[in-house]
Amino acid sequence: MSGISATLEGKRLLLGLTGGVAAYKAAELTRLFVKAGVDVRVVMTDAATRFIGTATMQALSGQPVFTDLWDARIPDHMAHIELSRDRDLILVAPATADFMARVAGGMADDLLTTLCSARRCPLLVAPAMNVEMWSNPANLRNVELLQRDGVTILGPAVGDQACGETGLGRMLEPEQVFELVATQLAGPGRTGALAGKKVLVTAGPTFEPIDPVRGITNISSGKMGYAVAQAAAEAGAEVLLISGSTALAVPRGVRRIDVQTAQDMHSAVMKNVAKQDIFIAVAAVADYHVVGRKEHKIKRGKGNLTLDLAPNPDILGAVAALAKRPFCVGFAAETENLREYAQAKRLKKNIPLLAANLAQHAFGKDDNALTLFDDSGEHILPRASKIDLARQLVAHIVEMLQPKRGVTRKSR
Ligand code: PMT
Repeated sequence: MSGISATLEGKRLLLGLTGGVAAYKAAELTRLFVKAGVDVRVVMTDAATRFIGTATMQALSGQPVFTDLWDARIPDHMAHIELSRDRDLILVAPATADFMARVAGGMADDLLTTLCSARRCPLLVAPAMNVEMWSNPANLRNVELLQRDGVTILGPAVGDQACGETGLGRMLEPEQVFELVATQLAGPGRTGALAGKKVLVTAGPTFEPIDPVRGITNISSGKMGYAVAQAAAEAGAEVLLISGSTALAVPRGVRRIDVQTAQDMHSAVMKNVAKQDIFIAVAAVADYHVVGRKEHKIKRGKGNLTLDLAPNPDILGAVAALAKRPFCVGFAAETENLREYAQAKRLKKNIPLLAANLAQHAFGKDDNALTLFDDSGEHILPRASKIDLARQLVAHIVEMLQPKRGVTRKSR
């Protein structure tokens, strides 16, 4: 904590609270930030004040708390602009489904939403809600919209909920939120378990053209790979994402190179791999490309159409075979015999770590479940949001890279 404190000293945070039982976690969060030297300005919605008192938040932050758009303490009734202008970051924790819907829809009808709307700094939100509210299609649509608008979503976690139900929707613990926000507040490469490390991630599908308008591809959305890139960036790494075609926004602090074919992805990876410390291959790479791609659109004929397919380069295999290779992590999506096929793939590719998932539960979905295979055996990461799993994967990689476990690159 002391290293982080030195980097966070003098940083300015606007902490927004919306109405949920998890508001009690904001008290501990405030304490952690203040202890690290961060200037914390608290803004609460009316609903938030029903769960935790302004007096508590004022005492912990050491500053007046703001709740009213028309607060007379701010000159010219400009609270909605003034309160965020000098801030490095806005964090809303807990964030309700209603708050996220209003920000996703561009609404600005109370102090916190107007501040979010008029901000110049990054916005991070830590959702907290009932499992059914979280998985409601409208909520998931809003989460996606927020992500596309560059808002970072922290969590949620799976666990017991105040309503007595269990599942995805629980707010991350204050320490987890603190770590994630601290990394962003400090700036890339300054703090975090991967500070100073370079991480290369592949994500999404590849597309192998048949003619100018048709091609062979797969249903990878890129969500898992983008989550891995985000998690590595949150851990302080300098992240390069080499991505097939997706509809996703580039995670904050990540550099992206867009590619189309497996050959393009191979070239981009090999060009950039030399300086990387870690390579995480999440992309669903086409195994074959069409030989003799047609220059013009193929006309419908009477008989069958036969395509001549030739194998694509094995990108992960090529990186793992380098004399000076980064720490290599592979993924495997299987529809059956997950354990057997994944273990075989790890050995064949000669890599220290492989994350396996069931294809039918992974492709295109917002959540997933992973089984990690390494020299020490298998590690099950139960169903959770892809970003949650990505953070757990990154934590596992960090642990493996620590010399004490004896599974560093040299020991393989
Ligand atoms: O994108 P989403 O919708 O979120 O879905 C995520 C995912 C299912 C695509 C992802 O979690 C996943 O499992 N990715 C790997 C897909 C796969 O089955 O890969 P594979 O078995 O064909 O290849 C194994 C490993 O080698 C992978 O790390 C792959 O990136 C890599 N590979 C494969 C072929 C090739 N020519 N070059 C490679 O680098």
